[in-house]
Amino acid sequence: AKNFRGKNFLKLIDFSSQDIRYLIELSKNFKSMKRAGVPHRYLEGKNIVLLFEKTSTRTRCSFEVAGHDLGMGVTYLDPAGSQMGHKESIADTARVLGRMYDGIEYRGFSQEIVEELAKYAGVPVWNGLTDEWHPTQMLADMLTIEEHFGHLKGLKFVYMGDARNNVANSLMIACAKLGLDYVACAPKELFPDPKLVEMAKEIAKDNFCTVTLTDNVEEGTKNADVLYTDIWVSMGEPAEIWEKRISLLKDYQINAKAMANANKEAIFLHCLPSFHDTKTKVGKEIAEKFGITEMEVTDEVFESKQSYVFDQAENRMHTIKAVVYATLC
Ligand code: CP
Ligand code: NVA
Repeated sequence: AKNFRGKNFLKLIDFSSQDIRYLIELSKNFKSMKRAGVPHRYLEGKNIVLLFEKTSTRTRCSFEVAGHDLGMGVTYLDPAGSQMGHKESIADTARVLGRMYDGIEYRGFSQEIVEELAKYAGVPVWNGLTDEWHPTQMLADMLTIEEHFGHLKGLKFVYMGDARNNVANSLMIACAKLGLDYVACAPKELFPDPKLVEMAKEIAKDNFCTVTLTDNVEEGTKNADVLYTDIWVSMGEPAEIWEKRISLLKDYQINAKAMANANKEAIFLHCLPSFHDTKTKVGKEIAEKFGITEMEVTDEVFESKQSYVFDQAENRMHTIKAVVYATLC
């Protein structure tokens, strides 16, 4: 992994289409090895640290399992159990951890924090989600799509919901780099940042694909190959925003009608966690408060044969392993 050794993984714009393809291929190799029970402790003797200023299930566990499978020591830190963020600056934290660890994962708020960490750490830094980007998620998403369709180029990828969040931003860039036609289907108020759209359109041109924004659900979902959504309010956004978001997004739910308008072979994806059945504590509170029972996706679609969300979740681990390996090997 000549191109990756010693590098940070902070956002997808920093990498070429070929680089991203390389990581997907590497992920497939790691997935086959894991499935076949072939040990791959290639990074024995190294250590990594995982910093989480926001909560996580998939990303944390993916880094932990990937680290252990590769033979490394893994430390988890959050603000409650460390000096990070409140008592010690990011620059100092980075310099201390960079002396002890071979790589640092960071999940938190602004992208500037992870960029600052990378500037001072002296070892590879991996972005495990910021307000702006979620680059490791995209690798798992693209691997899942490729496993299903056998290819990526030319597929119609439709994202419904808050089209300006970290996941949507990253998907727009990933699609543009890998040749999928990206459609953000959302109310105009939640369209992505025009500057980012312009950038994505430029990238898409080079890869013979398109970037489209529409607030028309019928048109947006028509002949889709992939229908993707995410939670309507992201971590770090104020809880007061739910009411507004529900009124903006209630017509942008992925339900049986949206799936019927898509291609017959279409698949449903969601980065998770999801409020599909509003059975969780938080989901239930929101649903009761606003008198709704389902949010970004119906339970029916989530549990259907067209839903590949758990393949997608599993693929987080294989793809994160590829990123960690490529940058540390
Ligand atoms: N998709 C994802 O990043 O999930 P977690 O928040 O559980 O890590
Ligand atoms: N947009 C979501 C993604 C969670 C994986 C959030 O930031 O909360």
